[in-house]
Amino acid sequence: MIELKKLANGFEYIEITNQLAYAKIALQGGHIFHFARHNEEPVLWLSDTSDFEIGKAIRGGVPICWPSFGMNNPDLPQHGFARVRMWKLINSNESDANTTQITLILNDTKESLGMWNYKFELELKITISDSLTMELTTTNLDEKPFKLTQALHTYFQISDISNISIQGLSGKPYLDALTNKICKQNGAITFEQEVDCVYQEVNNEILLVDKNRTITIQNEGSSSCVVWNPWIEKCSRMSGMRDDAYKEFVCIESVNAYDDFKILLPHAKHTLKANIS
Ligand code: BG6
Repeated sequence: MIELKKLANGFEYIEITNQLAYAKIALQGGHIFHFARHNEEPVLWLSDTSDFEIGKAIRGGVPICWPSFGMNNPDLPQHGFARVRMWKLINSNESDANTTQITLILNDTKESLGMWNYKFELELKITISDSLTMELTTTNLDEKPFKLTQALHTYFQISDISNISIQGLSGKPYLDALTNKICKQNGAITFEQEVDCVYQEVNNEILLVDKNRTITIQNEGSSSCVVWNPWIEKCSRMSGMRDDAYKEFVCIESVNAYDDFKILLPHAKHTLKANIS
Protein backbone atom coordinates (compact mmCIF):
# COMPACT_ATOMS: atom_id res chain seq x y z
CA MET A 1 0.00 0.00 0.00
CA ILE A 2 1.25 3.47 -0.90
CA GLU A 3 -0.44 6.40 0.83
CA LEU A 4 0.19 10.13 0.71
CA LYS A 5 -0.11 11.62 4.22
CA LYS A 6 0.05 15.11 5.63
CA LEU A 7 0.99 16.44 9.09
CA ALA A 8 -1.06 19.27 10.64
CA ASN A 9 1.55 21.82 9.46
CA GLY A 10 1.19 20.69 5.83
CA PHE A 11 4.37 18.54 5.78
CA GLU A 12 3.71 15.75 3.27
CA TYR A 13 5.10 12.23 3.25
CA ILE A 14 4.52 8.88 1.60
CA GLU A 15 3.79 5.83 3.70
CA ILE A 16 4.63 2.42 2.24
CA THR A 17 3.53 -0.91 3.68
CA ASN A 18 4.05 -4.29 2.06
CA GLN A 19 4.32 -7.83 3.39
CA LEU A 20 7.92 -7.40 4.50
CA ALA A 21 8.49 -3.82 5.54
CA TYR A 22 7.19 -0.37 6.38
CA ALA A 23 8.68 2.99 5.31
CA LYS A 24 8.00 6.72 5.36
CA ILE A 25 9.42 9.18 2.84
CA ALA A 26 9.04 12.96 3.02
CA LEU A 27 8.41 14.82 -0.22
CA GLN A 28 10.66 17.54 1.15
CA GLY A 29 14.18 16.36 0.45
CA GLY A 30 13.08 12.95 -0.93
CA HIS A 31 13.97 12.07 2.65
CA ILE A 32 13.40 8.50 3.85
CA PHE A 33 12.84 8.91 7.58
CA HIS A 34 11.62 5.45 8.54
CA PHE A 35 12.42 1.94 7.33
CA ALA A 36 11.80 -1.22 9.32
CA ARG A 37 11.06 -4.83 8.54
CA HIS A 38 7.93 -6.02 10.29
CA ASN A 39 8.49 -7.05 13.92
CA GLU A 40 12.07 -5.72 13.86
CA GLU A 41 13.70 -2.58 15.24
CA PRO A 42 13.92 0.33 12.77
CA VAL A 43 17.04 0.30 10.61
CA LEU A 44 17.10 4.10 10.39
CA TRP A 45 17.53 6.40 13.37
CA LEU A 46 15.18 9.36 13.63
CA SER A 47 15.69 12.02 16.26
CA ASP A 48 12.70 12.29 18.57
CA THR A 49 13.25 16.06 18.68
CA SER A 50 13.56 16.48 14.91
CA ASP A 51 11.40 19.14 13.34
CA PHE A 52 9.16 18.22 10.49
CA GLU A 53 9.17 21.76 9.25
CA ILE A 54 9.01 23.13 5.77
CA GLY A 55 12.46 24.46 4.81
CA LYS A 56 14.35 22.62 7.58
CA ALA A 57 16.16 19.26 7.16
CA ILE A 58 14.85 16.29 9.17
CA ARG A 59 17.44 15.01 11.68
CA GLY A 60 17.85 11.29 10.99
CA GLY A 61 16.79 8.91 8.24
CA VAL A 62 18.59 9.45 4.94
CA PRO A 63 19.17 13.12 4.05
CA ILE A 64 20.12 13.55 0.39
CA CYS A 65 23.18 15.79 0.30
CA TRP A 66 23.35 17.23 -3.20
CA PRO A 67 24.92 18.78 -5.37
CA SER A 68 27.62 19.27 -2.78
CA PHE A 69 28.76 17.18 0.17
CA GLY A 70 29.60 19.06 3.39
CA MET A 71 31.30 22.28 2.36
CA ASN A 72 32.96 20.69 -0.72
CA ASN A 73 31.41 23.58 -2.67
CA PRO A 74 31.86 26.59 -0.36
CA ASP A 75 29.37 28.66 -2.40
CA LEU A 76 26.48 26.37 -1.39
CA PRO A 77 24.86 25.66 1.98
CA GLN A 78 26.34 22.74 3.98
CA HIS A 79 25.35 19.48 2.20
CA GLY A 80 23.79 21.39 -0.72
CA PHE A 81 20.15 22.28 -1.17
CA ALA A 82 18.28 19.11 -2.27
CA ARG A 83 17.45 18.05 1.31
CA VAL A 84 15.17 21.03 1.85
CA ARG A 85 13.51 21.24 -1.60
CA MET A 86 10.13 19.81 -2.55
CA TRP A 87 10.49 16.71 -4.72
CA LYS A 88 7.79 15.29 -7.00
CA LEU A 89 6.49 11.74 -6.93
CA ILE A 90 6.51 10.60 -10.57
CA ASN A 91 6.10 6.87 -10.32
CA SER A 92 4.99 4.16 -7.92
CA ASN A 93 4.82 0.46 -8.40
CA GLU A 94 3.88 -2.53 -6.26
CA SER A 95 5.49 -5.25 -8.37
CA ASP A 96 4.56 -7.99 -5.90
CA ALA A 97 3.32 -8.24 -2.31
CA ASN A 98 6.91 -7.97 -1.01
CA THR A 99 8.27 -5.15 -3.16
CA THR A 100 7.28 -1.50 -3.49
CA GLN A 101 9.11 1.01 -5.62
CA ILE A 102 8.64 4.76 -5.88
CA THR A 103 10.48 7.39 -7.91
CA LEU A 104 10.84 11.02 -6.90
CA ILE A 105 12.44 13.79 -8.91
CA LEU A 106 13.86 17.23 -8.35
CA ASN A 107 14.56 19.72 -11.12
CA ASP A 108 16.27 23.09 -11.27
CA THR A 109 14.16 26.11 -10.40
CA LYS A 110 14.73 29.85 -10.68
CA GLU A 111 15.89 29.75 -7.06
CA SER A 112 18.31 26.81 -7.54
CA LEU A 113 19.75 28.45 -10.68
CA GLY A 114 20.40 31.56 -8.58
CA MET A 115 22.56 29.47 -6.21
CA TRP A 116 24.01 26.95 -8.63
CA ASN A 117 23.66 27.88 -12.28
CA TYR A 118 23.07 24.44 -13.85
CA LYS A 119 19.98 22.76 -15.27
CA PHE A 120 19.59 19.27 -13.90
CA GLU A 121 17.33 16.38 -13.12
CA LEU A 122 17.85 14.46 -9.91
CA GLU A 123 15.96 11.19 -9.59
CA LEU A 124 15.66 9.02 -6.49
CA LYS A 125 14.35 5.51 -6.94
CA ILE A 126 13.51 3.83 -3.63
CA THR A 127 12.80 0.11 -3.31
CA ILE A 128 11.19 -1.13 -0.10
CA SER A 129 11.43 -4.87 0.42
CA ASP A 130 13.34 -6.98 2.97
CA SER A 131 16.13 -4.50 2.20
CA LEU A 132 16.17 -0.77 1.42
CA THR A 133 17.59 0.26 -1.94
CA MET A 134 18.22 3.86 -2.97
CA GLU A 135 19.34 4.85 -6.47
CA LEU A 136 20.17 8.53 -6.88
CA THR A 137 20.66 9.51 -10.52
CA THR A 138 21.91 12.93 -11.55
CA THR A 139 21.46 14.07 -15.14
CA ASN A 140 23.20 17.18 -16.39
CA LEU A 141 20.58 18.97 -18.53
CA ASP A 142 22.88 21.94 -19.08
CA GLU A 143 25.25 22.81 -21.93
CA LYS A 144 28.23 23.05 -19.57
CA PRO A 145 29.86 20.39 -17.35
CA PHE A 146 29.43 20.48 -13.58
CA LYS A 147 31.23 19.03 -10.58
CA LEU A 148 29.17 16.85 -8.29
CA THR A 149 29.74 15.72 -4.72
CA GLN A 150 26.89 14.02 -2.86
CA ALA A 151 25.73 11.63 -0.16
CA LEU A 152 23.03 9.27 0.89
CA HIS A 153 23.67 10.35 4.48
CA THR A 154 22.24 7.32 6.29
CA TYR A 155 21.67 7.51 10.07
CA PHE A 156 21.58 3.95 11.46
CA GLN A 157 19.78 3.15 14.70
CA ILE A 158 22.02 1.20 17.09
CA SER A 159 21.59 -0.36 20.54
CA ASP A 160 24.41 1.82 21.95
CA ILE A 161 27.51 3.40 20.42
CA SER A 162 29.70 1.34 22.80
CA ASN A 163 28.24 -1.92 21.40
CA ILE A 164 28.97 -1.46 17.70
CA SER A 165 31.80 -1.96 15.27
CA ILE A 166 32.11 -1.23 11.57
CA GLN A 167 33.86 -3.85 9.49
CA GLY A 168 35.03 -3.91 5.89
CA LEU A 169 37.16 -0.76 5.98
CA SER A 170 40.37 -2.19 7.44
CA GLY A 171 43.39 -1.28 5.32
CA LYS A 172 41.56 1.59 3.58
CA PRO A 173 43.07 5.08 3.51
CA TYR A 174 40.89 7.79 5.04
CA LEU A 175 40.85 11.52 5.51
CA ASP A 176 40.26 12.38 9.15
CA ALA A 177 38.11 15.49 8.68
CA LEU A 178 38.80 16.54 12.30
CA THR A 179 42.60 16.72 11.86
CA ASN A 180 42.77 16.95 8.05
CA LYS A 181 45.27 14.08 8.03
CA ILE A 182 45.32 11.04 5.75
CA CYS A 183 45.52 7.83 7.79
CA LYS A 184 45.07 4.09 7.21
CA GLN A 185 42.36 2.09 9.00
CA ASN A 186 43.69 -0.73 11.11
CA GLY A 187 41.00 -3.31 11.97
CA ALA A 188 37.33 -2.64 12.75
CA ILE A 189 36.10 0.86 13.67
CA THR A 190 34.87 1.33 17.25
CA PHE A 191 33.83 4.57 18.96
CA GLU A 192 35.32 6.30 22.00
CA GLN A 193 35.34 9.86 20.71
CA GLU A 194 34.07 12.04 17.85
CA VAL A 195 34.63 10.38 14.46
CA ASP A 196 34.32 12.15 11.11
CA CYS A 197 36.27 10.18 8.49
CA VAL A 198 36.11 9.91 4.71
CA TYR A 199 37.20 6.43 3.63
CA GLN A 200 38.62 5.95 0.15
CA GLU A 201 39.11 3.00 -2.22
CA VAL A 202 35.91 1.43 -0.87
CA ASN A 203 34.60 -1.15 -3.33
CA ASN A 204 33.31 -3.83 -0.98
CA GLU A 205 30.49 -4.43 1.50
CA ILE A 206 30.54 -2.59 4.81
CA LEU A 207 29.14 -4.27 7.92
CA LEU A 208 27.59 -2.51 10.88
CA VAL A 209 27.86 -5.09 13.66
CA ASP A 210 25.62 -4.49 16.68
CA LYS A 211 24.78 -6.66 19.69
CA ASN A 212 21.80 -8.40 18.13
CA ARG A 213 22.04 -7.68 14.42
CA THR A 214 24.39 -6.97 11.53
CA ILE A 215 23.48 -4.56 8.77
CA THR A 216 25.18 -4.81 5.37
CA ILE A 217 25.75 -1.76 3.19
CA GLN A 218 26.60 -2.26 -0.46
CA ASN A 219 27.35 0.82 -2.58
CA GLU A 220 27.68 1.30 -6.33
CA GLY A 221 28.85 4.38 -8.25
CA SER A 222 31.03 5.39 -5.34
CA SER A 223 34.48 4.57 -4.02
CA SER A 224 34.19 6.52 -0.79
CA CYS A 225 32.20 6.36 2.40
CA VAL A 226 31.89 8.66 5.42
CA VAL A 227 31.70 7.39 8.99
CA TRP A 228 30.42 9.97 11.45
CA ASN A 229 29.42 10.18 15.09
CA PRO A 230 29.42 13.62 16.78
CA TRP A 231 30.12 12.30 20.29
CA ILE A 232 29.33 14.30 23.47
CA GLU A 233 30.40 17.88 22.82
CA LYS A 234 29.38 18.26 19.17
CA CYS A 235 26.08 16.47 19.85
CA SER A 236 25.17 19.04 22.52
CA ARG A 237 25.79 21.81 19.95
CA MET A 238 23.80 20.21 17.13
CA SER A 239 20.29 21.17 16.11
CA GLY A 240 17.42 18.69 16.14
CA MET A 241 18.89 16.13 18.56
CA ARG A 242 19.06 15.53 22.31
CA ASP A 243 22.42 15.96 24.08
CA ASP A 244 22.87 12.21 24.49
CA ALA A 245 21.55 11.22 21.03
CA TYR A 246 25.10 10.34 19.87
CA LYS A 247 24.71 7.03 21.74
CA GLU A 248 21.78 5.98 19.56
CA PHE A 249 23.09 6.35 16.00
CA VAL A 250 26.02 6.14 13.68
CA CYS A 251 26.15 7.54 10.16
CA ILE A 252 27.66 5.41 7.41
CA GLU A 253 27.25 7.56 4.36
CA SER A 254 27.35 6.37 0.75
CA VAL A 255 29.11 9.26 -0.94
CA ASN A 256 30.93 10.81 -3.84
CA ALA A 257 32.98 13.30 -1.85
CA TYR A 258 36.39 14.94 -1.69
CA ASP A 259 38.63 13.13 -4.26
CA ASP A 260 35.73 10.88 -5.29
CA PHE A 261 33.88 13.76 -7.00
CA LYS A 262 32.21 13.35 -10.40
CA ILE A 263 32.38 15.68 -13.39
CA LEU A 264 29.19 15.40 -15.41
CA LEU A 265 29.45 16.48 -19.03
CA PRO A 266 26.37 17.98 -20.72
CA HIS A 267 23.56 15.36 -20.86
CA ALA A 268 25.64 12.77 -18.93
CA LYS A 269 24.21 10.80 -15.99
CA HIS A 270 25.66 9.33 -12.82
CA THR A 271 23.97 6.94 -10.38
CA LEU A 272 24.93 6.50 -6.74
CA LYS A 273 23.30 3.39 -5.34
CA ALA A 274 23.10 1.97 -1.82
CA ASN A 275 21.54 -1.27 -0.69
CA ILE A 276 20.98 -1.74 3.03
CA SER A 277 20.07 -5.19 4.25
C1 BG6 B 1 28.47 14.64 8.14
C2 BG6 B 1 29.71 15.48 8.26
O1 BG6 B 1 28.42 14.12 6.85
O2 BG6 B 1 27.30 15.43 8.39
C3 BG6 B 1 29.74 16.16 9.64
O3 BG6 B 1 30.85 14.67 8.05
C4 BG6 B 1 28.43 16.94 9.86
O4 BG6 B 1 30.85 17.01 9.72
C5 BG6 B 1 27.26 16.00 9.67
O5 BG6 B 1 28.42 17.49 11.16
C6 BG6 B 1 25.88 16.63 9.90
O6 BG6 B 1 25.68 17.73 9.09
P1 BG6 B 1 24.36 18.58 9.18
O7 BG6 B 1 24.51 19.71 8.19
O8 BG6 B 1 23.21 17.69 8.82
O9 BG6 B 1 24.24 19.06 10.60
